[in-house]
Amino acid sequence: GIELGKLLAQTGYITYDPGFVNTGAASSAITYIDGEQGVLRYRGYPIEQLAQHSTFIEVSYLLIYGELPTKEQLESFTSKINRHTLLHEDLKRFFDGFPRDAHPMPVLSSAVAALSTFYQDSLNPFDEPNVELSTVRLLAKVPTIAAYAYKKSIGQPFLYPDNSLGLVENFLRMTFGLPAEPYEIDPDVAKALDLLFILHADHEQNCSTSTVRLVGSSEANLFASISAGIMALFGPLHGGANSAVLEMLSSIKAEGGDVDDFVKRVKNREQGVRLMGFGHRVYKNYDPRAKIIKKTADEILAKISGGDELLDIAKALEERALSDDYFIERKLYPNVDFYTGLIYRALGFPTKYFTVLFALGRLPGWIAHWREMIQDPATKIGRPRQIYTGEKEREYKPLSQR
Ligand code: ACO
Repeated sequence: GIELGKLLAQTGYITYDPGFVNTGAASSAITYIDGEQGVLRYRGYPIEQLAQHSTFIEVSYLLIYGELPTKEQLESFTSKINRHTLLHEDLKRFFDGFPRDAHPMPVLSSAVAALSTFYQDSLNPFDEPNVELSTVRLLAKVPTIAAYAYKKSIGQPFLYPDNSLGLVENFLRMTFGLPAEPYEIDPDVAKALDLLFILHADHEQNCSTSTVRLVGSSEANLFASISAGIMALFGPLHGGANSAVLEMLSSIKAEGGDVDDFVKRVKNREQGVRLMGFGHRVYKNYDPRAKIIKKTADEILAKISGGDELLDIAKALEERALSDDYFIERKLYPNVDFYTGLIYRALGFPTKYFTVLFALGRLPGWIAHWREMIQDPATKIGRPRQIYTGEKEREYKPLSQR
């Protein structure tokens, strides 16, 4: 396939493939998806096994370095990350400049881009020790930035990280804790969030990961490339879908909870009405992540909030859609985002913040892809072609004659 692609490129023919539905933009050894069968593996390990036995930090190591860590490797990786969780005091002042009601995704992206200015040793993408350091800095600092974006939005003071805690626990404390008040971490909440991060950690050439690779192909550094990936994730057809699902469920509830009526509106293609959290470019079967998340939603919602009416609406909506020819013919199933918002809400996060949680989970995947891309001798600057549909050559007319 790779050789044929090279050959075609030399012929001068251009493949017209809007949305890159059929274009292999890279070769990659990180994640395998079989969309027909609903299979997902990170570095060969089935997502179901990782969800059951692994942790987010271990999965991050696996994605970035290709193997599960030994005990020593995991300890060293964890302690390196713990040593870099603090933000430079000057970077903290960036948050003052944003409006209080700013969406946290552009805040996150801006602060990550700003890391390039604080760590100028990161500018050369081929300097391996510094790429290693940038990797650790990102994994350590992005949760701190994310927590500060939240604190800024609710007007509470920032908390310094507590490096005796694990990555997820530290993030929860910095997000929900208050200075001078003990913050008790609920192990069920930490476990649920860790699991969601594992399930979001990579998904091969999705829109944000492709963005990271494309920006990186110009030899832009890791921070700059990931800042761009965060902005690609912001869109409602990608990471923004988790917030959009919750808004959809809330509006169905407000209008009396009639899922039939909503499905009719989707099928009638009413302007702007889609069944959010359904459908996927690659999965033409049940998204294996959604299966795991649905079960977790049941457990965590029953435990934390004693159930949730929106979960009942989501399940009714799923049942209704999966028995409808419109969805059957188009092979539309729940994707990773259909049930995540309900869990995030039960954990205490506001809707606007859900996509930031997706970004925290996807971070190791972005890093792994950027590193794979930069080390791959086949990498060229990403530069698609186009089919020109504009005017033929014409004469310039002076203003007086137009
Ligand atoms: N609701 C209703 N109809 C849908 C939906 C949906 N959620 N998704 C796809 N369709 C229909 C389309 O209208 C189209 O029908 P048509 O051929 O009769 O016009 C057909 O199914 C194929 O859909 P496309 O939009 O061509 O599929 P594509 O692969 O381009 O899009 C996408 C995939 C963006 C995920 C789409 O299914 C969608 O918009 N889903 C809702 C948003 C969402 O949940 N996004 C999260 C995706 S997963 C992630 O990023 C984590």
